[in-house]
Amino acid sequence: MLERMNEIIEIINKANYEYYTLDKPTLTDQEYDRYMGELQKIEEKHPEWIREDSPTHRVGNTVIDSFTKVTHRIPMLSLGNVFNESEILAFDERVRKVIPNPEYVCELKIDGLSVSLLYENGVLVRGATRGDGTTGEDITHNVKTIKTIPLTLKEKVTIEVRGEIYMSKDSFYALNEERERNHQELLANPRNAAAGSVRQLDSKIAASRKLDCFIYHLPDPENYHIKTHMEALNYMKRLGLRTNEENNKLVHSIDELLEYINYYTRHRQELPYEIDGIVIKVNNLSDQQKLGYTVRTPRWATAYKFPAEEVLTKLKEIKFTVGRTGQVTPNAILEPVRLAGSLISKATLHNEDYVRSKDFRVGDIVAIRKAGDVIPEVISVKEERRTGKEIPFEMIQNCPICNHPLVQKDAAYYCVNPHCPAKKIEALIHYTSRNAMNIDGFGDRIIEDFYNMGYLKDFPDFYHLKEFKEELMELEGFGEKSIQNLLDSIEESKKNSLERLLFGIGIRHVGSKTAKILASYFKDIDSLMNTDFDTLVSIKDIGVIIAESVTMYFDEFHKEMIEKLRQLGVNMKYLGVVTTDENFENKTFVLTGTLDHITRERAKEIIESKGGKTSSSVSKKTDVVIVGHDAGSKYQKALDLQIPIWEEEEFLNRVGEI
Ligand code: IVH
Repeated sequence: MLERMNEIIEIINKANYEYYTLDKPTLTDQEYDRYMGELQKIEEKHPEWIREDSPTHRVGNTVIDSFTKVTHRIPMLSLGNVFNESEILAFDERVRKVIPNPEYVCELKIDGLSVSLLYENGVLVRGATRGDGTTGEDITHNVKTIKTIPLTLKEKVTIEVRGEIYMSKDSFYALNEERERNHQELLANPRNAAAGSVRQLDSKIAASRKLDCFIYHLPDPENYHIKTHMEALNYMKRLGLRTNEENNKLVHSIDELLEYINYYTRHRQELPYEIDGIVIKVNNLSDQQKLGYTVRTPRWATAYKFPAEEVLTKLKEIKFTVGRTGQVTPNAILEPVRLAGSLISKATLHNEDYVRSKDFRVGDIVAIRKAGDVIPEVISVKEERRTGKEIPFEMIQNCPICNHPLVQKDAAYYCVNPHCPAKKIEALIHYTSRNAMNIDGFGDRIIEDFYNMGYLKDFPDFYHLKEFKEELMELEGFGEKSIQNLLDSIEESKKNSLERLLFGIGIRHVGSKTAKILASYFKDIDSLMNTDFDTLVSIKDIGVIIAESVTMYFDEFHKEMIEKLRQLGVNMKYLGVVTTDENFENKTFVLTGTLDHITRERAKEIIESKGGKTSSSVSKKTDVVIVGHDAGSKYQKALDLQIPIWEEEEFLNRVGEI
């Protein structure tokens, strides 16, 4: 049976390569399914035989607990950017100072996320994200679901290759259509969709989304006796990897290079995937060596970025929205158009002055633009297309949501009603956001719905949601699992360090950086609440505006709200490095037994954040042993050596976790 299994794996992997990489199907769907079925059965019977390169990994049957960090053997660099012809010429000139007659390879800059793939003896053993360039995350389980990434190479080589994971335009549109049908939030663009898919613990999601991959870089070509980048691309192709052979081009002059760029600037829309520019690489590897690197980018390559895209569409309506600070902004509701790969139906109009200076009118044909990640904006009007029926802009005087009169401050208008629902909803959304309390599983829509249904009115209500678990499970689009995940994440947020809470509650002018400064200075919320203006302005980086805003914030209403959060178990202390905590500083701790209230990881984190160290064995050098229940020999040894012992509760008490 083992032999049969191996045979099937070869057949399926070969068929996959022919189908996905060469675009030449060799097996019928029925044959393919039959082989897969047979393989699955064998693997079920003999899980100990499951091979790293088994095509059953592709169906998404792996769930991991958390992402493991991967340190890149060779850093994953990014590229410098050029934005116009003169900057391209300047790049070429810099190259020519070192290499008088360079050859370049031009490639499409695929708009996805970069990945490092490691093959050992020809078998894919690891896929990792770029991360910060030095350390990325292990996403092997998701990478294995991508059909254009071979699980085995044609030669038994050990090699690391790099490329871009992306989602084609068609798959992206299909995915969003499906999400729309299921009342899920739409994904902004193919890049976000691809990045979101590989950042999942459960590989089912990546498997269900049609992702693709192009390979474009061999980090250590010298190990394979390769002299040029083109040779590297060809070698990787021969190994069975998918390079963008059709569009990669070797050019011998700057004219040829500019021609390539011009061609794809005009034809990029026809490509089945998004590109955001052209990558230009010096071909000869010894020339690359001579040119070398800056700290983060090679000097031998650059990326030409396409100018922001613009399209025309109709301005159907000007709608006003209220942000969490109460600021009222005009937004354009547009006839939906595709722009830089996304379907756009809303764009910002910034503020009243902007709309007036451009004289945007409802009914106008306007140009909208998007640059990178930025929200699209309406940039100009086609006056020649006016019919006379357009309606001139008028600023509203009352809040569009609660009807409270607006107050003008500088160029902006504000709703000053503290109970305005729009402000509340935005504030609730902000509370859950990543740099604030980091509560996962809430989309903006869910928060709005929960607000309207009365489950969420203010921050403390998050911690009451568990009382309504049964009811919430009944709501459309929710199941037990998603509600449980949400509740778990809410529960977890109680342990956050103070700065997250300070940022989350939305004190005006207190961004996440200021929140950190305040938290590390005052250590707990009471000291901050009881401080005065003079103390605040004496702190480095805290100016009068912030000091005033902080003192104004803690009125009776907000103090009561903080008290409620405290009663509900939300941590109000700073957990960063507290240098004055002599209980921990420079001391060695050993954790033993099972902890009931926190994980070992979290306990270690806290100890380290307070200047302590952890070790796995008890010796004379150990300062404290923290014991959970069922502690064994380490506990005994601590007793023998008369080392101070803290029970879990005492530890939690000392660190302010209970
Ligand atoms: S080469 C040392 N080639 O663009 C060379 N990058 O802004 C490393 N990208 O991080 C990159 N298509 O994610 C290269 N054909 C291509 C590319 C490409 C897309 C991405 C990649 C990189 C980013 C740099």
